[in-house]
Amino acid sequence: MTKFFFCTASALAFAVTAATAAEVKIGYALAEDSHYGAAARAFEETLKSELGDTFTVRHFPSSGLGGEREVIEGLQLGTVEAMIASSGTLSNFVPEVGVFDIPFLFRDLDHARQVLDGPIGQDMLAKFDNVGTHGLAWGEQGFRHITNNRNPISTPEDMAGLKIRTMENPIHIRAFEALGAAPTPMAWPEVIPALEQGAIDGQENPLSVIVSANLGEVQKYLTLDGHVYSSAIVLVSQRLWNDLDDTQKAAFEKAGDAAAAAMRAYVDQVEVEGVETLQARGMEVNTLTPEQKQVFQDRLADTYATYQGQFGQDLMDSILAAQ
Ligand code: PAF
Repeated sequence: MTKFFFCTASALAFAVTAATAAEVKIGYALAEDSHYGAAARAFEETLKSELGDTFTVRHFPSSGLGGEREVIEGLQLGTVEAMIASSGTLSNFVPEVGVFDIPFLFRDLDHARQVLDGPIGQDMLAKFDNVGTHGLAWGEQGFRHITNNRNPISTPEDMAGLKIRTMENPIHIRAFEALGAAPTPMAWPEVIPALEQGAIDGQENPLSVIVSANLGEVQKYLTLDGHVYSSAIVLVSQRLWNDLDDTQKAAFEKAGDAAAAAMRAYVDQVEVEGVETLQARGMEVNTLTPEQKQVFQDRLADTYATYQGQFGQDLMDSILAAQ
């Protein structure tokens, strides 16, 4: 009876001819002036220009609906309609997507964008239909770097025992263990308080996050090592998706693409200006040379063997070979 009521109510809510606009709650972990905020605005504007007032987009920035794992669960339950999320917890829902989290897999932003927009990325996106959601597009955060309060990092030895917060992501946790650090997985909403209280020494995130979340206020050292490319996804709930007609589906796909483009534009800009901004806020910044990076990669040799078993050499080779 309850199930019947929900299905009927949601079908009515999204009917094109509905007299009142249906609400699309969109959750994201960062502030409105971040790359996620820019993406959510582009999403909203595109839906409006395509469908007029059929949908009202309501923003929940700064983890207003909870951590990313909880929001994905909200999509599955149909209590949240849309979200923008990092790759952090995605492999807990679609394990294959963890291949994108392998350290030092992508050469640069162009390489990553080619793969995500091409057949490999689009096949992965389609897998979200199997877990009660629908993937609209791959956006991004950029390459992740390490910040901490203990010391500058140039070698794995500089990370010995460093209590570094990682996302709740097994690939990242294994990599930091192999580098000799003490990875501490934690949901994002807990990270800034934990840094303030000294419960952890550091964290890792792309410049887009370090700048927009003002991490310079709680972190002294920034090491530009680009250890992992951080994709981001624009996801909607399957309950919403199944209630849309074809015209509405096309509009949501377009809105997802606009959100992804907005994230990439923000990342391009922060790549140019971010380091200067953070230095002006008092952070001490060092960049790993290619030789120093190689030492980190060599230290990860055993973990690469595990990834080959987990994701398959063919898939990893196809990603590496993409131009
Ligand atoms: O570190 C994370 O958990 C993510 O990069 C963040 C900051 C929540 C953005 O999705």
